[in-house]
Amino acid sequence: MKQLNETQLKENWDKLIQVIKDTFEDGSERRENLLRMYHDLEDRMIMAPASGKEEYHYCHVGGYVEHVLHVIDTALKVAKTYESIGGHRDWTDEELIFSAMHHDLGKVGDLNDEYYVPQDNDWRRKTLGEVYTQNSNIDNMRVPDRALFLLQHFGVKCNMKETLSIKLADGLYDEASEFYFKVFDVKKAVKSRLPHIIHFADHMATLAEADEWKLGDKDEKEEVESRIENIKSVTVEKDKQNGVPQKHKDPVLENKHKDLFDELFGDKS
Ligand SMILES: [Fe+2]
Repeated sequence: MKQLNETQLKENWDKLIQVIKDTFEDGSERRENLLRMYHDLEDRMIMAPASGKEEYHYCHVGGYVEHVLHVIDTALKVAKTYESIGGHRDWTDEELIFSAMHHDLGKVGDLNDEYYVPQDNDWRRKTLGEVYTQNSNIDNMRVPDRALFLLQHFGVKCNMKETLSIKLADGLYDEASEFYFKVFDVKKAVKSRLPHIIHFADHMATLAEADEWKLGDKDEKEEVESRIENIKSVTVEKDKQNGVPQKHKDPVLENKHKDLFDELFGDKS
């Protein structure tokens, strides 16, 4: 399983924040609210995996941010390919980047807790390759719906193209998309091509990430098992009163996180 060291986690995070600063107009409400959301969810988002199973994709600490960056890059390339083969572009770069950036936001969890928690059932971990499992403490909700909930909570407005692109990112792999994609009346067909572009980009990036895992060094598996145990000890301080996760203010907790990083990545950095 791929492992990112502390420096790589920080670099990926900085890249993501830079994409926001480069894409959204300086001083605009959308940019300010996005930066606030990313600030509040930072601790959890940096550590989140992109999936729960090794053979899916980027099932490692920091996999979420890495996957999002990958999908943004892939979506820009898919869009260019689509235009080059005669397709009509009916979206802006901002709409495309915004949609790609938030298509999996629901995987970060809700306002209080993470979506993926370490799988502590040894049998499921070893036999089914479940490194993480879904947190049953949060409301059962589809990932795109949770993404849209988080965005509205932080006052980040989405237009219709972006809403549908986030909602339909899994394409027909999600039966909930059938209502939108499997229509037999052209008047009901999804009007923008952006949801298709985001779905194709997400799907292609996911396949490439799974290939990367398949071709990766599988000799590290045993070492990974022991590191998974360490992942379980990850805790994020939360301000339960406000219902919003906060950055660590307590130096003891800061040190606890530093120790965890050292334990996870100390011999890899
Ligand atoms: Fe995705």
